[in-house]
Amino acid sequence: MTGVAIIGLQWGDEGKGKISYLLSRDAEYVVRFQGGANAGHTVVLDDRELRFNMLPAGSASGAKPCIASGTVVDLSEVLEEIELLKSIGINTQPLISRNACIVLPIHKELDSMIEQIRSSEAIGTTRRGIGPAYSDKALRIGIKIEDLLDSGSLKSKIKLIEDFHKLPVGDIEEWVELAEKFSGNICDLEIILNDELDRGKRIIFEGAQGTLLDIDQGTYPYVTSSNTTIGAVFTSCGVGPRKISEIIGVMKAYTTRVGAGVFPTELKNREGDILREKGREYGTTTGRPRRVGWLDIPLLRYSIMINSIDWIALTKLDVLGGIRKIKICIEYDINGERVEMAPPNVRTLEKAKPVYIHLDGWSALTREEWKKVAVKGWDALPENAKTYIEIIEKLLSRPIKLVSVGASAGMEVAK
Ligand code: IMO
Ligand code: MG
Repeated sequence: MTGVAIIGLQWGDEGKGKISYLLSRDAEYVVRFQGGANAGHTVVLDDRELRFNMLPAGSASGAKPCIASGTVVDLSEVLEEIELLKSIGINTQPLISRNACIVLPIHKELDSMIEQIRSSEAIGTTRRGIGPAYSDKALRIGIKIEDLLDSGSLKSKIKLIEDFHKLPVGDIEEWVELAEKFSGNICDLEIILNDELDRGKRIIFEGAQGTLLDIDQGTYPYVTSSNTTIGAVFTSCGVGPRKISEIIGVMKAYTTRVGAGVFPTELKNREGDILREKGREYGTTTGRPRRVGWLDIPLLRYSIMINSIDWIALTKLDVLGGIRKIKICIEYDINGERVEMAPPNVRTLEKAKPVYIHLDGWSALTREEWKKVAVKGWDALPENAKTYIEIIEKLLSRPIKLVSVGASAGMEVAK
């Protein structure tokens, strides 16, 4: 079987977009299977930055974009990103599952309202309507893509939502028009994906957000409203677990988080500010500064365990260049006890004190120098960078097969 899943191992923004692009180049399809326009996946091609919120970033490679049943779809974003693809010479229409729920204007309003009510305990959502769209779906009052094509039943479904929330849904005429426009691509995606996998076609499943933002396995309530972990591929796409032959974890060479919530290795000092600037750690979707910290092995061990990760793609290694001493949190001290695996419980995690090892860094390289490293390959990496990678492999018991040393496609080293 040739299904390949890409899963973020941290709190999102690991560089899944770039990795998905690289792995989609010889794939037939690339699928977004959860979340909505809260994702911010970037692909940089010859200095041109392409940002995807709704379509899988892998579609910049020419693989057919698909949007599966378990997502909450923002149709206006889909339209914009079809244009984005056109601008790089890719003329395509995404395949959209008829069962996917849509994000309505009311969901974005409700997202902001709930955040306001939470006040000092706000999640820091992307305000893309994700939580309310998923909660309407769970309440069984969600509107599915196929409903847009059936004006008769659409009215009563909208009325139900309006009666429940006591707010107008907002203007969705445009949505109906878009759905009509896309009607040739609204499909039984489950059947297509299974048939194509059975025929040996390569399909990439591009995860959004990250494992620690998973609604069940993440740091609740400071999470997103979908399952971001491997199980979502199966439930959202209707593809069985045996059809996935490879599960790839994407992780940054350090840790970042946008929005509130526990963050054991957070750097709230100048070191953190430097890392934020060097790594340009500002949100793709919202522009917010990201919180930054050292690598957190106990959390990564947890992510790897629950996703059955086969191998790792490590991103943004170049950002660490020029830091004299690099720290890695290898275990926690929780109530005086040493633990190697992050506990699947936020209250316990909040008590975790990171235990660090200190490694010698390597000097900062220019972009041109990293480019040469990417061309020459593994041996050209600075010695201490190699050591950093090898130590992480040992600590996580997984091979790191791909190391990204710059945002652009081509700036990476295979191991
Ligand atoms: P990609 O796919 C990083 C975070 C938000 C907030 C929490 C809930 O680019 O990795 P939501 O709008 O989903 O209800 O917000 O989740 N969040 C992300 N953080 N990367 C993302 O996506 C994220 N999508 C949501 O900042 O803390
Ligand atoms: Mg993001």
